[in-house]
Amino acid sequence: MIEFQHVGKSYGGTPAVSDLSLTIARGDFTVLIGASGSGKSTALKVINRLVEHDAGRVLFQGEEIRRFRPEDLRRRMGYAIQSTGLFPHWTVARNIATVPGLLGWPRERIRARVDELLVLLGLDPATFGHRYPHELSGGQQQRVGVARALAADPEVLLMDEPFGALDPLTRGALQQELARIHRVSGKTIVLVTHDIDEALALGNRLVLLDRGRIVQVGIPTDLLVNPANDFVIDFLGRAERGLRLLGLQTVAMRLRPGDAADGEPLPAHLTLRDALSVFATRHTDRLPVVDAQGRCIGALHVGDVLRAPP
Ligand SMILES: Nc1ncnc2c1ncn2[C@@H]1O[C@H](COP(=O)(O)OP(=O)(O)OP(=O)(O)O)[C@@H](O)[C@H]1O
Ligand SMILES: [Mg+2]
Repeated sequence: MIEFQHVGKSYGGTPAVSDLSLTIARGDFTVLIGASGSGKSTALKVINRLVEHDAGRVLFQGEEIRRFRPEDLRRRMGYAIQSTGLFPHWTVARNIATVPGLLGWPRERIRARVDELLVLLGLDPATFGHRYPHELSGGQQQRVGVARALAADPEVLLMDEPFGALDPLTRGALQQELARIHRVSGKTIVLVTHDIDEALALGNRLVLLDRGRIVQVGIPTDLLVNPANDFVIDFLGRAERGLRLLGLQTVAMRLRPGDAADGEPLPAHLTLRDALSVFATRHTDRLPVVDAQGRCIGALHVGDVLRAPP
């Protein structure tokens, strides 16, 4: 759906992105990670022509993006950024309605869509719809920014640290919401983040950048299990790598079906990382496991958490 072919972008002779080649298929959830200044935002903005590349080719549905008008790209690609970029003199509702308005949706449909999105992102339409951005907290503004990106149900979502200013609880809730939107809509999402755990939780493909170049591309477990070099290991957190790997696996994957144990049960969908933490706080080496309906389906042994995956 989106293809980078040897793409470069320099500022005053200094490359921000160099020789970037990457194919993003329809329905992929791609996460760009890397240190500050590694070129993540530049690579993302090349996709909707907020930044013009000066080397290579960028294709959207097989056509060089320069052949599209920037306005058309921006209607087809929702864009959310950490600093929100909301129009300060427009109400929250009008901000969210930007693209549906450009597309000429009927007034009633726009109103219904704005309310639907505010509810989805945990903001009461009656309370927040008529406020101006400066009357919202930073995290609330970010949520409005995400709502605006989603408004016209675009084919592609480009998100640059959209959850940066949120507390861990709200952030976790919005991550789950975004993962759900991706699951049910099959949208193509490209998200930039500094946060490794966010990248591992959301992406089905991670792209690690360093000084404008790709260091490794792969599914999350691939980067953890087969890091290309020491840079990848350090970036993923040398000490945390094993725990992060357990964070990608669930209790259901290691339980002994039909086995019994005493104590407060673990839900089968819990990650092995969280399960390990429960073992550590309960001072026990085996716990019962229940499914989503609360039925006992077996037991998890702490030793099995550390076994190599089958
Ligand atoms: N408009 C610009 N003019 C000059 N240099 C720029 C411009 N935008 C980005 N750069 C430079 O390009 C490099 C890559 O910047 P970019 O914003 O893509 O990094 P990033 O990975 O998104 O970083 P961060 O995590 O801090 O947001 C940096 O060295 C930056 O200083
Ligand atoms: Mg950036």
